[in-house]
Amino acid sequence: MTWTTIRKTPQPGEPAPNFADYETGRANFSWETARAELEGLPGGGLNIAYEAVDRQLRAGRGDAIALRWLGKNGERREFSYAELARSSNRFANGLNRLGVGRGDRVCVLAGRIPELYVAALGALKTGAVFCPLFSAFGPEPVRVRLAKSRARVLVTTTLLYERKVRAQRSALPDLEHVLLTDGGGVEPGAGSFHALLEAEADQFAIPFTAPEDWALLHFTSGTTGSPKGAIHVHEAVVAHRLTGRSVLDLRPGDVYWCTADPGWVTGVSYGIIAPLANGATLVVDEAEFDASRWYAILEQERVNVWYTAPTAIRMLMKAGGDLARGRDLSALRFAASVGEPLHPEGVVWGLETLGQPFHDTWWQTETGAIMIANTRTQDIRPGSMGRSLPGIEAAIVRRRSEGGLDLLEPGAEGELALRVGWPSLFRGYLDDEERYRQCFAAGWYLTGDLATRDVDGYYWFLGRADDVIKTAGHLIGPFEIESVLLEHPAVAEAGMIGKPDAFAGQIIKVFVTLKPGYAPGDALRKELIGFARTRLGPAVAPRELEFAVDLPKTRSGKIMRRLLRARELGLPLGDLSALETDEAQNL
Ligand code: WT7
Repeated sequence: MTWTTIRKTPQPGEPAPNFADYETGRANFSWETARAELEGLPGGGLNIAYEAVDRQLRAGRGDAIALRWLGKNGERREFSYAELARSSNRFANGLNRLGVGRGDRVCVLAGRIPELYVAALGALKTGAVFCPLFSAFGPEPVRVRLAKSRARVLVTTTLLYERKVRAQRSALPDLEHVLLTDGGGVEPGAGSFHALLEAEADQFAIPFTAPEDWALLHFTSGTTGSPKGAIHVHEAVVAHRLTGRSVLDLRPGDVYWCTADPGWVTGVSYGIIAPLANGATLVVDEAEFDASRWYAILEQERVNVWYTAPTAIRMLMKAGGDLARGRDLSALRFAASVGEPLHPEGVVWGLETLGQPFHDTWWQTETGAIMIANTRTQDIRPGSMGRSLPGIEAAIVRRRSEGGLDLLEPGAEGELALRVGWPSLFRGYLDDEERYRQCFAAGWYLTGDLATRDVDGYYWFLGRADDVIKTAGHLIGPFEIESVLLEHPAVAEAGMIGKPDAFAGQIIKVFVTLKPGYAPGDALRKELIGFARTRLGPAVAPRELEFAVDLPKTRSGKIMRRLLRARELGLPLGDLSALETDEAQNL
């Protein structure tokens, strides 16, 4: 393996990195020390919202800006930590008045609006479980997640409610309260979020929440079955706060921009919790990607720390570095990326265009926080995800067919595994013990990612061991896409793959076979794509659809998606023989 290394030494006047030296950092690390840095609730216990907001008030930072919101139509609103504490207290009081609290699921289906942040923190304060739903999901993924979470409360907008929820309300018997952020009272069966807040007091005494109490529910996908709800507990905040400081180099007063949508785990762990728990100011942009707008935000908001994703980096690269020229980006101290492989050109482009290289970081919904990273002080090996953080033991392993694991040597390709024992590891898949159990062997959590490690401990991503894909950074499982297509009267079978794409990383492509009496053709193709789009939403709908006479299957009848993919890409089929077993299809 060859590489060039990149290191950006701190400029004069820049603060010294929080995380000084990799070896020393690892040698001196203990999770007990990291835990002891948290304040804990005044009466004992641990609560994410307390560590993120109320604690800053007690430290005398109530007037500091917690959230700077940039509306898509040019509005600009700021919320201090004290204001965020008060609004979230009001929402917590309101939830309690509705009889909602400890263990109840509170879902939010909304774009990047201030109410989302208030609702998330208020729900956490009551001991309820906060569950974000991506606003670009269509009615079907929304219904599945609301039903599986047995949400009692949904906070959303009138438009999203009308389009995605109202018609399905009768299929959601647990959903007692819908609170609209922009109205209410008019819509039958839905109240007003703001009226609820206005009726309540500013003060709220957070009840005891134990470190192991459930706090967050994030839906994620696997190869088989419907989405899985990954459960995280309040103790996860230990890892959020620590990695916010050590990897993202956050410190009080920093202006920080995480471009991930809070409908997904990155937008919660690193879009809300980690930065607030480190006293930073969140920049929240309501608008969709636009290269000029993004450079303007970096410049005008004087962003110090930026956390974004390869898809966005590729789109900025496409838009051209000219847009960045003449911009004063001198406030930017650290830039990082997550979610998909970060190509080496992206790292270098960051250095040349923004004055900062992108530092790749790796983690998953299930790990709750960053596990592997290029930190500010270590050499970046472009193309590598970096090294495992202090407190995290990673390995490349091979599962034994009879159970157990073999740990592989540097240079070998295998599955990335992490030794169990960090606070933000998920505590279960909702109502699915068996799937949770299958993620572990011999004290290791198995990630489902294929990777290799070099002799210096840098990890290099190779791909997924299963059939999930990443499109524009969003993790998509085949089951949800295929099942929607199977609802169409013309479709007999459907198989989804990720097709490489220069910008989105991968796009969703489906192969379908038709029932007798239906003939392939452009009109039917359009109809099927439209059908899927209406139900699934634009972000997760197939972009390409191809008719097939039959689909390759295992002996027991499971569709071999990787064979479809190999055919699509013209890959040699020989290497795939190992994947033809049902076991491999089940990963
Ligand atoms: C999957 C997890 C992004 C974290 C939260 C989203 C892929 C993540 C990298 C990276 C290559 C990456 C993996 C992983 N992934 N980071 N730096 N390089 N691939 O979590 O939606 O559960 O996705 O994203 O395949 O398993 P998620």
